[in-house]
Amino acid sequence: MTIPHRTFRIGGDIEIRRLGFGAMRITGPGIWGAPADRDEAIRVLRRLPELGVNFIDTADSYGPNVSEELIREALHPYDAGMVVATKAGLTRPGPDQWTPQGRPDYLIRQAHGSLQRLGVERIDLWQLHRIDPSVPRDEQFGAVRHLIDSGVIRHAGLSEVSVADIKAASKYFDVATVQNRFNLGDRGSEDVLDYCAAHGIGFIPWFPLAAGELTRPGSLLDTIARNHQASVGQIALAWLLQRSPVILPIPGTSRVAHLEENVAAGEIALSDFEFCELDRATAGTQQR
Ligand SMILES: NC(=O)c1ccc[n+]([C@@H]2O[C@H](COP(=O)([O-])OP(=O)(O)OC[C@H]3O[C@@H](n4cnc5c(N)ncnc54)[C@H](OP(=O)(O)O)[C@@H]3O)[C@@H](O)[C@H]2O)c1
Repeated sequence: MTIPHRTFRIGGDIEIRRLGFGAMRITGPGIWGAPADRDEAIRVLRRLPELGVNFIDTADSYGPNVSEELIREALHPYDAGMVVATKAGLTRPGPDQWTPQGRPDYLIRQAHGSLQRLGVERIDLWQLHRIDPSVPRDEQFGAVRHLIDSGVIRHAGLSEVSVADIKAASKYFDVATVQNRFNLGDRGSEDVLDYCAAHGIGFIPWFPLAAGELTRPGSLLDTIARNHQASVGQIALAWLLQRSPVILPIPGTSRVAHLEENVAAGEIALSDFEFCELDRATAGTQQR
């Protein structure tokens, strides 16, 4: 199998390299506060354009604020074509705690805060981090519509949603991306991925490096990795890239060496046999 499409157009008009970077891990333990090695976090971010990565995923809640502020410090003024996608909709009472908050005034305020922290005039892709079950979802989608109409954001996406959620949101705005947990060890969002592929919606699988049981020595994944002289994580990323041209993996790391390894996965071409064997071995796996 040849290496599939390397780029994707978010919302049909913003072209990015499909293998991006998740900026959640450049924060402290529990995704709280400053990273343990701040200088290395800055080096990771500055290595991105050198490696050709031009799609970064972050959120107001990573730190909170820490991830967005570090991205600005390391990369502003941004190279032409660098896309920093962010999100709001989860508040942070403390480390490892995430509480949905979908009041329209809150979402709008947070998007304005991201504008300032990132140092941009408009956010290319802003994602509703969670649909808050305690707020009517139409009100949350209406807030997203307002952000688009007022020019604060260019495109909008959703996170951790069902096909029904995407259809409901589409009455308010064109859903440009969906960010759901998806990897070789958790394929619970296959229906959402297929819907995205059919509608040209970017599908951003979070926790892309995970592969569950398949990471154990002697497993199918381990064997394929050895054959390619690659790590199991690299094969997990290569499989995602080959699974669908709308998949935009965002592996996250706090270390330059890991970043370089992850980006190199974009050059690995699995054979049809390897792809299908991995597909068959993990079909139906679900961790929730
Ligand atoms: N929408 C949502 O609800 C949601 C939820 C979670 C995450 N996300 C997004 O998805 C991105 C990725 O998710 P994730 O961070 O949970 O999962 P991930 O990228 O699959 O895994 C990250 C973990 O793997 C380690 N790692 C990365 N590269 C490695 C390598 N080459 N070798 C060994 N270890 C490596 C990292 O540690 P080191 O720092 O030591 O490399 C980190 O502990 C996040 O950054 C965030 O942008 C979104």
